[in-house]
Amino acid sequence: AYESNITATEEEEHFISSLPSHKYFPTLRNYKKFWIPGNDLTRIRSMEKTFVRRPADVFLASMPKTGMTWLKALAFAVFHRKQYSRLLSFHTPFSLLPGSIVDACKIIYVCREPKDTFTSFWKFYNSLMTDNNICGVDIDKLFELFCAEVQTFGPLWEHALEYWRESLSDSDKILFLRYEEMIDDPAKVMRRMATFMGCEFSEEEESMGVVEELTRLCSFDSLKNVEGSKNESSIYEGMSVKKSLLYRKGGVGDWVNHLTPEMGRTIDSITQEKLAGSGLRF
Ligand code: A3P
Repeated sequence: AYESNITATEEEEHFISSLPSHKYFPTLRNYKKFWIPGNDLTRIRSMEKTFVRRPADVFLASMPKTGMTWLKALAFAVFHRKQYSRLLSFHTPFSLLPGSIVDACKIIYVCREPKDTFTSFWKFYNSLMTDNNICGVDIDKLFELFCAEVQTFGPLWEHALEYWRESLSDSDKILFLRYEEMIDDPAKVMRRMATFMGCEFSEEEESMGVVEELTRLCSFDSLKNVEGSKNESSIYEGMSVKKSLLYRKGGVGDWVNHLTPEMGRTIDSITQEKLAGSGLRF
């Protein structure tokens, strides 16, 4: 991702620290209606001035915990067959992207059903906190904040709607995907990605079963068991993040095992209200 080695100037730090924060998520800042981690905000704001695109750049975008790791693997596999190009991924809302990306680059966006996204985030965040010897996470508090739209890179509904509306107005620029359709038929999604990226699978590749082989390589069990996924860690916001946390359970509907029916109904009713009239369905 395009986040490495960007340090904030004193003026920028001052600006970021002047933005609204939240006591439960001290690193988040509210910027143009989205809750963005401070370091990411520095990166997002500096991209506008410094990002130089290359002709064949493809960007992958999503809210956290909606399937970015899987999408990256699928996109890399599709693209790497033919040519090497730069694949970059981020959680940046569409309205905060620099003009050079919006005007001329292809973006693949993935969204996920909000109850499952919340569950995945809670599980991830809780493991992250306990791994780093910080306190465990109270699901009721996190739920309350989620429903009040205080979410890392959120609000989730607005995040998805911005990409959704752009995909309707220019389907050559944005391919809008759902995690659930990737689960349902990953090979079909992979073909759509290949077409979108201008590198369709040939008849020969199809007859050799290349698509199925690539989806198998990118499957949950396959990625989870790669040596690097099991043992490596990275650092984010000063915390150690085990790569294994990116592969928890995978699949659709795990929320029923962690949320009450009442919590489910609450998220559903927010979703219904937020998406009304947009044509977007999770
Ligand atoms: P769960 O927590 O519900 O299991 P992200 O990569 O955006 O952080 O999303 C993480 C979610 O994607 C986790 O969901 C994780 O298990 C799931 N995931 C990761 N790789 C996957 C794969 N190859 N197939 C299906 N789901 C995958």
